[in-house]
Amino acid sequence: ERCKGVNGLEKIILREVRRHSAEVYLYGGQVTSWKNEHGEELLFMSSKAAYKPPSPIRGGIPICFPQFGGHGTLEQHGFARKRIWTIDPDPPPLLTSSGNKAFVDLLLKHSEEDAKFWPHRYEIRLRVCLSPGGDLLLTTRVRNTNLDGKPFTFTFAFHTYFYVTDISEVRVEGLETLDYLDNLQNKERCTEQGDAIVFESEIDKVYINTPTKIAIIDHERKRTFVIRKDGLPDAVVWNPWDKKAKAIPDLGDEDYKHMLCVEAACVETPITLKPGEEWKGRQEISAVPSSYCSGQ
Ligand code: BG6
Repeated sequence: ERCKGVNGLEKIILREVRRHSAEVYLYGGQVTSWKNEHGEELLFMSSKAAYKPPSPIRGGIPICFPQFGGHGTLEQHGFARKRIWTIDPDPPPLLTSSGNKAFVDLLLKHSEEDAKFWPHRYEIRLRVCLSPGGDLLLTTRVRNTNLDGKPFTFTFAFHTYFYVTDISEVRVEGLETLDYLDNLQNKERCTEQGDAIVFESEIDKVYINTPTKIAIIDHERKRTFVIRKDGLPDAVVWNPWDKKAKAIPDLGDEDYKHMLCVEAACVETPITLKPGEEWKGRQEISAVPSSYCSGQ
């Protein structure tokens, strides 16, 4: 279903028979909502989200392309989150035979505006798919369509903002003992301790070469988010905490308590594509009662 969202921006609503739903804005190619069968929102959206181009939307799942963060010479997180995507007229075939209809295919292509910063012809596709069980699957494909024979290089992230009841009661499993780049320490390379990650202050780390499965446990709600990823070796973990939250104009002062970004990403080793080549990355997120997950 295609309709008008906040400030007249176009959005697509995906619904599943068991009443799960998701919303995707053409602006940014951005998922802004993902709800379970009880209508509970699973993604965080800032109480001050502006939905006003050219600012990116603060919450949901922004797409960082062709650059993650400040890891390069382009603007922070690249420009894809600030462009209006279109419905893909030529989507790749669906590989599953489940007959699932709750999906949308989006496309963003190079424009003159981008060429000022990044002189390449590209196509980035995004399929957002809500599975019959309510899992949210995002698949992206990037193609180099340069006519001058030049390769290009990029980094990427699904900048997912998960909704958590109380950040102080959250634990992340799957990142123990890994190396990370600490964005708060000049991208210095460090090694994580053996315990699950817990949160008591600002964090901004790029974990390198993580397992393909990461779990976010919301103790208070007894809910676990499970992230499964493919083609995206790294994982960014970000929470601005109180001081930095106050400095972010489109984030409420207390919002940091209810958000955690865990971002399936490719940052440490950028991807290079020659003309005609394509890269694919995938993230699947599910939300399950915590007891259900134990021992898995
Ligand atoms: C995270 C980065 O992914 O995004 C942080 O690691 C950054 O360094 C955060 O502050 C938010 O970025 P932005 O541009 O959306 O304010």
